[in-house]
Amino acid sequence: MTVATTKQELKEKLIEWRQQDHHVALVPTMGNLHAGHLSLVELARESAEKVVISIFVNPTQFGKDEDFDEYPRNLKLDIQRLKESTADLIFAPNVETMYPLGLENATSILVPKITENFCGASRPGHFDGVTSVVARLFTLVQPDAAIFGQKDYQQQLAIRHMSLDLNLPIKIITGKTMREDDGLAMSSRNQYLSDDERVNAPMLYEVLSDTAERLQSGCRDYKEQESRSIKVLSDAGFSVEYFSIRRAQNLKAPDRDCDELVVLVAVKLGNARLIDNVVVTI
Ligand code: PAF
Repeated sequence: MTVATTKQELKEKLIEWRQQDHHVALVPTMGNLHAGHLSLVELARESAEKVVISIFVNPTQFGKDEDFDEYPRNLKLDIQRLKESTADLIFAPNVETMYPLGLENATSILVPKITENFCGASRPGHFDGVTSVVARLFTLVQPDAAIFGQKDYQQQLAIRHMSLDLNLPIKIITGKTMREDDGLAMSSRNQYLSDDERVNAPMLYEVLSDTAERLQSGCRDYKEQESRSIKVLSDAGFSVEYFSIRRAQNLKAPDRDCDELVVLVAVKLGNARLIDNVVVTI
């Protein structure tokens, strides 16, 4: 497995693969890899002969008061983990490589509407940073396919919209959320949880699953279900940012006949901000 930190190293490998008619799939990450990321690498391998995983903690998607400085970085361990995976190349650039004109001169790609609510409302500018860095990675790697996790539901929708709107010839694939045995969605930010909070955290998925079951069994009073779930979570010590039932395709408010829904949640638990979702097909 190759580790490339410069554009040149990446380019050399890509040229070699293209000459051999290989397809390339990209898994963008910010590192500190867990089983969820590794499942995306496996999924990538199903759609291309060669898999590139990028590791880059992207400064433009963090707000001023967010955890950019504390965000867990562990490239050595990540490389170790990837050696046992089906990844062929790790692209681990620095900020100068990704933003050659400097952060203050960086071109920004903004996907409207779909990024306005939910995480977009509580983290202003976050999705502009995500789509801008993903567009840069797409330009550098020129993959045939790119894989994103369902846990970041709004993110993968924004990237789908960007790719569609810019006619990017890249297949966007969404990999299912990997969970701990107790249901908690795997996330790099789970390590901010204290021991007590970690015991409490799986309740998030329990409440999502309970809502999904009610929807499946015909309940259509979305507002009532949202309020009930917010109360259950708040009573259990979660600070709820949003809990919302939306159309899975575009996050618009659903009517009673909608047959593909997504239940989205974001909470603060101690120092950790946790997001999760379930898709409900009726
Ligand atoms: O989901 C992430 O880890 C990041 O938002 C991404 C897609 C790698 C962009 O920095």
